[in-house]
Amino acid sequence: MHVVTGSITSKQNIVTCVNRAGVAVADVIIEQLAASEAVLTADERELGVALVDIGGGTTDLAIFERGSLWHTGVVMMGGDHFTNDIAVGLRTPIPDAEKTKRRSGCALSSLVGEDETITVESVGGRPPRVMSRRILSEILQPRAEEVFHALWDEIRRAGYERSLHSGLVLCGGGALLEGMAEIAEQIFDLPVRRGYPVEVGGLTDHVNSPSFATGVGLVKFAHRIQMQESDRALGVGTFGKMTDRFRGLFRSFF
Ligand SMILES: Nc1ncnc2c1ncn2[C@@H]1O[C@H](COP(=O)(O)OP(=O)(O)OP(=O)(O)O)[C@@H](O)[C@H]1O
Ligand SMILES: [Mg+2]
Repeated sequence: MHVVTGSITSKQNIVTCVNRAGVAVADVIIEQLAASEAVLTADERELGVALVDIGGGTTDLAIFERGSLWHTGVVMMGGDHFTNDIAVGLRTPIPDAEKTKRRSGCALSSLVGEDETITVESVGGRPPRVMSRRILSEILQPRAEEVFHALWDEIRRAGYERSLHSGLVLCGGGALLEGMAEIAEQIFDLPVRRGYPVEVGGLTDHVNSPSFATGVGLVKFAHRIQMQESDRALGVGTFGKMTDRFRGLFRSFF
């Protein structure tokens, strides 16, 4: 059994926010499980994989092996730390630092040509400056290394460093930064890929991004639970009991 605990007040606040936005909450699951529903394949889950969700404030880790979730963890750093580093390092306002990161950022300096340049906004009404894109990546690379080394420590502490036969899958908005998968491959010496939501129809163009992994996973999870409930309503006896147990395993209790 894997138990994840958290503050009941925090959970209740999120449920209240979502309800007030006019959406009824069917259930609550831990973020990593939702993201894994959207981006991991059954083979990866079976062989051993680390799902790494690089969000704004935190980076969430989930380790799967033999088809099940074995470990979850959180590193208290995310994409917003990269933006802050740019704002301080290049002396540019936070919104401009965010734009510069998304437009020109690269987490691995060696991928950036020495002659590439970027234009950076200044603070206090001073004119924009033209500088080398390498300088930007030299600000981002140490933060990326810090995040991945903290993850590696967490994986080692939990004892799964030899279990990740399918490597790592990166999702969350932070995974969109150029060079993230490449630098992770160097640090972990394992295959690393970006996780795009799979097996979804309809608005695929809009959600076809690692930053929608959790959102798509939540919808897939709710859909699966609804199908199981309608199966039960149709009287699928033993299967119904099994899905009850399965559902218990997938829920997180705060
Ligand atoms: N194209 C991009 N390139 C680089 N970083 C990006 C890009 N798009 C989004 N990000 C970064 O991704 C982060 C947000 O990711 P995401 O939307 O997954 O976060 P979240 O789920 O809201 O946050 P959390 O999981 O921490 O609660 C921000 O720091 C943002 O700067
Ligand atoms: Mg997130």
